[in-house]
Amino acid sequence: MLSPLQLSFRKRDTLLSKTTNAVRLVDGDGDGFPNLFLERYGERLLLSTRHDELLTSPLRQELNKLGQSVYWKHLNQHQKTAPEHLTGPEVTEPFTILENGVRYRIDFSAGYSQGIFLDQRNNRKRVQKLARSGQTVLNTFAYTGAFSVCAALGGATTTTLDLSQPYLDWAKENFRLNDLNPDSHHFCKGDTFHWLKRFQKQGRLFDGIILDPPTFSRDKQGKTFSVEKDYGELFTLALSCLTPGGWILSSTNCRKLPLAVFQKQLQQHQPSFTLLETTPMPNDFSGEPYLKALWLLPKS
Ligand SMILES: C[S@@+](CC[C@H](N)C(=O)[O-])C[C@H]1O[C@@H](n2cnc3c(N)ncnc32)[C@H](O)[C@@H]1O
Repeated sequence: MLSPLQLSFRKRDTLLSKTTNAVRLVDGDGDGFPNLFLERYGERLLLSTRHDELLTSPLRQELNKLGQSVYWKHLNQHQKTAPEHLTGPEVTEPFTILENGVRYRIDFSAGYSQGIFLDQRNNRKRVQKLARSGQTVLNTFAYTGAFSVCAALGGATTTTLDLSQPYLDWAKENFRLNDLNPDSHHFCKGDTFHWLKRFQKQGRLFDGIILDPPTFSRDKQGKTFSVEKDYGELFTLALSCLTPGGWILSSTNCRKLPLAVFQKQLQQHQPSFTLLETTPMPNDFSGEPYLKALWLLPKS
């Protein structure tokens, strides 16, 4: 008989292929493991728990038996530390994963986040499909530029924007991993609001814009951004930098913001003739549907 862990793995078999080797293997309540998550990154595993006691000794033994590298992340809002080595060979270098044929650099020693958010897999694929040669795509709050890589592979010239220079450098590395020349694209360091206002003044328009901000952030000048308070303003600014007929992906993982409220927040700023389409989370995210994605799409 299969153990609950093996059952969860089995459910994801069809998602793993020659072109995708990174998925969520256990998604908390959705797989009968409340507050416990397990992700596969190539041959390496990352366990995340909200409480340390959730790693029971039977579970630890089962993970030991896999013989794979397993790292353990303690989900904690206050102490955001890098995952610790739990079992299997230690991972001493960054490595590459594959998602829908796209390569991304993963680093287990980089800090609290490892380089990619797997819950955005389907949205990245859609961005790759929407982006066309001759078009421009702006990726704000870009982190390691995963959306930019997809847009660039779709043929667009991309602008990748983030507060952090190390993340922008990581994004360039992700471009190179996919045989894309970062010198043919733009990378902007700084605050998204600042840059959007600048683009607006310059009359610079984009055919596609990605908005996926953190729930809360504070820049060096102490200026704060909160999804619940400020997303409407962010969306309005983005609209002013959008080519007529362009698309916007607005996304948030803010658990406190229900989809209907998020939709209403954006709908107020939306021209009456367009619709905001929502997309569900990928199938391996069987637990709480915390990620909300709203697409402003051109009329077909
Ligand atoms: C949740 S991650 C975004 C994930 C990314 N969209 C993805 O799918 O990979 C948040 C990112 O926003 C950046 N950030 C936070 N506040 C910012 C701001 N005001 N302007 C630009 N980037 C910001 C952080 O440095 C971080 O890389």
